[in-house]
Amino acid sequence: MKELMIKPTIYTFSTAAEFAKEFKIGKGDLIITNQYIYDPIMKPLGLKCDTLFQEKYGMGEPSDEMAEAMYADIKGDYKRIIAIGGGTVIDISKLFALKEVSPILDLYDGKIPAVKEKELILVPTTCGTGSEVTNIAILALNSRGTKKGLAVDAMYADAAVLVPEFLQSLPFSVFATSSIDALVHAVESSLSPNGNETTKMFGYKAIEMILSGYKMIAKEGPDARIPLLQQFLIASNYAGIAFGNAGCAAVHAMSYPLGATYHVPHGESNYAMFTGVMKNYLEIKSDGEIERLISFIADILECETKDVFEELETLLNCLILKKPLHEYGMKEEEIIEFTDSVIENQQRLLKNNFVFLDRDRMIKIYKELY
Ligand SMILES: NC(=O)c1ccc[n+]([C@@H]2O[C@H](COP(=O)([O-])OP(=O)(O)OC[C@H]3O[C@@H](n4cnc5c(N)ncnc54)[C@H](O)[C@@H]3O)[C@@H](O)[C@H]2O)c1
Ligand SMILES: [Fe+2]
Repeated sequence: MKELMIKPTIYTFSTAAEFAKEFKIGKGDLIITNQYIYDPIMKPLGLKCDTLFQEKYGMGEPSDEMAEAMYADIKGDYKRIIAIGGGTVIDISKLFALKEVSPILDLYDGKIPAVKEKELILVPTTCGTGSEVTNIAILALNSRGTKKGLAVDAMYADAAVLVPEFLQSLPFSVFATSSIDALVHAVESSLSPNGNETTKMFGYKAIEMILSGYKMIAKEGPDARIPLLQQFLIASNYAGIAFGNAGCAAVHAMSYPLGATYHVPHGESNYAMFTGVMKNYLEIKSDGEIERLISFIADILECETKDVFEELETLLNCLILKKPLHEYGMKEEEIIEFTDSVIENQQRLLKNNFVFLDRDRMIKIYKELY
């Protein structure tokens, strides 16, 4: 039985200049990023590489249409693709390391084989997705009204590079949503029946790092995050290792239709579903891993185990307010539509549920959160 796989070599540098020097970034490299990340940090280095700025192709999270438009503009014959950005930039860039990419819908439907062609270097500038160590690229498939992850080994990076300097400019709201995403990765993978003690070591450590950081921010205010950015970057990387091996589950699965239909940031849509799914797991089975997880979190939050999800919400509400689903625009009839879409499109995730959630249970969860 496979215990753990970490495919990319993981590097850490304190500054972008050290990273650029060590990796000899120059001719033959395409950096995919955002101009507002590149200009203040990378431009002064005078590198001879080419750049492609993602925001020119639309705002918000990545879609198949955005990725097609970017792909059409990649003209050079590059040896390395270097992605410097959040999950949006990183996920799209993973596709461009493949030999054949378009039509992207065919790639996602498995009609085009995923074959690696270029070297891939991934540098996260948010502290959430852990995408730098996973083989997954998640896109909104606009014509289908949902998000879908393509998971193929050809999309593993060669190098995952952690440079906290890139996170200095991260707005508090993106810090909040992305780190909540990392927390959900850590929790879902720790509860996954496909995890093991090694994956849980990364998951539980990430939970501890994130929640202790949140406690500091709750006490001292948003600026308290600045000296903690490296801690959050590492935590999101650990959570990425954990879920890259053990998988995410119902929280992610059930948040995808909401995120895709109402353009809710990924971490925020996860938060909207998070404690609702946890409470339902608990109703079905209150012992085993969930008992261990709850007592672990209760220790960090210094509360009783029976209050753990309420206390967790109180803490997370210092970062972003949890909203009922209708406040995102969701309509009541979509409770059934979303449930059926999850069952049809997200089996990749549902197989990692702590306990089986049937259709009625998913309807109940959406209703409770509506
Ligand atoms: N592949 C995976 O394993 C995986 C896992 C989880 C999530 N995801 C995907 O990742 C996406 C979300 O990624 P995200 O949470 O990192 O957000 P994001 O990449 O969408 O970024 C959010 C916003 O913050 C900006 N930004 C990013 N870094 C910045 C910085 N350092 N300074 C200033 N602005 C910055 C971006 O340009 C964007 O406008 C979703 O599409 C989600 O589905 C992928
Ligand atoms: Fe996620």
